[in-house]
Amino acid sequence: MRVGVGLLALPVLLGGWAVAPGAPGPGVPRAARAWADATLRAMTQAEKLDLVTGQFTRVFAGRDFVPAAAARPGSAGYVPGVPRLHVPPQWETDAGIGVASQVDATTRRERTALPSGLATAATWDPALAYRAGAMIGAEARASGFDVMLAGGVNLARDPRNGRNFEYAGEDPLLAGTMVGAEIAGIQSNHIIATTKHFAMNDQEFGRTVLSADIDEASARESDLLAFAFAIERGDPGAVMCAYNRVNLVYACQNDWLLTHVLKDDWHYPFYVMSDWGAVHSTVGAAMAGLDQESAAASFDKTVYFGAALNKAIEAGRVPEPRLDDMVRRILLALKAKGVVDDPPRIGRIDFSAHEAVAREDEAAAIVLLKNADGVLPLRETGLRVAVIGGHADVGVLSGGGSAQVYPRGGNAVPGPAATQFPGKPIYDPSSPLRAIASMLRHGKVDFASGENAAAAAALAAKSDVAVVFATQWSAESRDNSLMLPDGQNALIARVAAANPRTIVVLETGGPVAMPWLDAVAGVVEAWFPGSGGGPAIADMLFGRHDASGRLPITFPVSARQLPRPTMPGDAKKPDAPFDIRYFEGAAVGYKWFERTRQTPLFPFGFGLSYGHDTFDDFRVSEAKGTVTAQFRVRDDGHRWMNEVAQVYVSCPGFDDGVIWRLGGFSALRLEPGEARTVRVAIDPRLLANWNVVKNAWLTVGGTCRFALARSARDRVATARLQMAAGTLSEP
Ligand code: BGC
Repeated sequence: MRVGVGLLALPVLLGGWAVAPGAPGPGVPRAARAWADATLRAMTQAEKLDLVTGQFTRVFAGRDFVPAAAARPGSAGYVPGVPRLHVPPQWETDAGIGVASQVDATTRRERTALPSGLATAATWDPALAYRAGAMIGAEARASGFDVMLAGGVNLARDPRNGRNFEYAGEDPLLAGTMVGAEIAGIQSNHIIATTKHFAMNDQEFGRTVLSADIDEASARESDLLAFAFAIERGDPGAVMCAYNRVNLVYACQNDWLLTHVLKDDWHYPFYVMSDWGAVHSTVGAAMAGLDQESAAASFDKTVYFGAALNKAIEAGRVPEPRLDDMVRRILLALKAKGVVDDPPRIGRIDFSAHEAVAREDEAAAIVLLKNADGVLPLRETGLRVAVIGGHADVGVLSGGGSAQVYPRGGNAVPGPAATQFPGKPIYDPSSPLRAIASMLRHGKVDFASGENAAAAAALAAKSDVAVVFATQWSAESRDNSLMLPDGQNALIARVAAANPRTIVVLETGGPVAMPWLDAVAGVVEAWFPGSGGGPAIADMLFGRHDASGRLPITFPVSARQLPRPTMPGDAKKPDAPFDIRYFEGAAVGYKWFERTRQTPLFPFGFGLSYGHDTFDDFRVSEAKGTVTAQFRVRDDGHRWMNEVAQVYVSCPGFDDGVIWRLGGFSALRLEPGEARTVRVAIDPRLLANWNVVKNAWLTVGGTCRFALARSARDRVATARLQMAAGTLSEP
């Protein structure tokens, strides 16, 4: 992708997209266009209407749902193919964390669960996200699916959003890069991935009635930029429009979002599908840019496409070429992504290889937040360990809702099956207790459930170290508070009082408050750890793996620090429409904390390592329009370590120079004594602001500051560069 630059002054020309890190999608092959055009010409009107009107996997028969004959049972959706023209059926499944099964499905696929999306983001390692995506895609293919509803990149505007665990945090560059890599990995299996939920579906309460209101420049510099990065890097075959309204207009009939931004400005060539039940009109949605109504008869109030769309075409309210455009976009995605030539085949799954991917992902994702007096890593010999709480004897917690993966071996904490969305907590049967026991030599490990705090404290008192597993479930359709539930804060305080060598391992969908922080020696954020969770946590606790993760989201001290201390919406009137004014604009997460000069509990980008390294020789230069930061890093400890070098930028025009933005990053594995020179290219959009009048990115010119950092607040070196004023028109 190229960008034209109109320069108003020298000295630095921003002459082209400096893409960092990753690369833009490859575009659409000419052969795919030719096939789509020819197939479209051969299709009947009925076939076209079928292709743009999705079905659920069960259909109403009388008063009951029965499975739709050709659909994959217990999945999210189905669109019939056109066999005579070799258009394959679209078998859709949620797959952000692994191949999901619908919550109320009677037939559940047991599949490998990755750690949560937020955990994968905490690795800051796009190569790992790609491998994770490739794993998902392989299981999906072998399960007979070709359209993944995976690639969630909504920004974490509120740490309490119940779906943050599916997404990739609060920063557009990090989130877009990681989700883009996951999408590319998924699609390497000749299937389609779907980035979602476009856009600003940033809280669950009231998601179908709320309007997220934001000025255009702020939207372009935050939530939309995350989508732009994910789409450029991942080249997904589909985009899913969201439930909510954006600036008063439903996302699935929002012409500005779907047509102006996505299709015109970004030249998105593939199709927009609706979220399940997110369509509210025929003409409005069709003319705004919706290309496929998902699960129409089962989720929307009425079928808005299908026969209703045909009527609108006959009445001249939707031009026929618009239907052709919808169909062409769907055909193009099916062909370009490889579904037409290499349709999925149900086959064997290599679960042990896939569990290794999940374990590797989690090991790199765990964030060490506190490590007083080197309480971690634990020694493997002769230690008496008390493991407390969190069902750590049997498994690790996962996130719920449509992304729920049913793990191999079933729920480790069984009970009556949930029939209502979003289901109930599922524990992946990967036991931290068993993994800890297997790594200890001549030691002893005991377990207390934590239900009886006195018994847990007594066990802690007679142990060398106490490891408390604390959990907070997250699920689609509900938001969280920042407080750990079920008396776990009191349990931790009590255990810590009995043994100061207490380590808290958090299994949460996102940030929580830590009123007990000063009383404990160690804190570890393990997120929702996935199918390899138990051994990955033990690897990290014993130092077999470095403490590697870095926070992709700010941990506030309390909700009082947030732009909206109370979550918007009236819990007593869940169906009443309301507005959320995003007055913080693009100052999401760490940028908000910076602007309001507040100190969080733990900043974005933060995480301790067991190793030690030093940075030096930080400089920034420009060549051929690409701004590159360069530095040296040296592992000067005695062990290998993971480092995540972060480069932040601040230019004139960024909110009076107060705001630092993440401009680039690099996840590095370093061997003892190893020294390396690292270069990080900065995307020019991160040095600019969106100008609504010019419909372009604009740099105001002057001195930009650059910081090499270990977190959003820990800058170890700075550099400056004179930038010219100029515009970067969208390609
Ligand atoms: C969710 C989507 C999901 C769809 C199908 C909706 O409720 O918002 O993310 O892909 O259901 O399961």
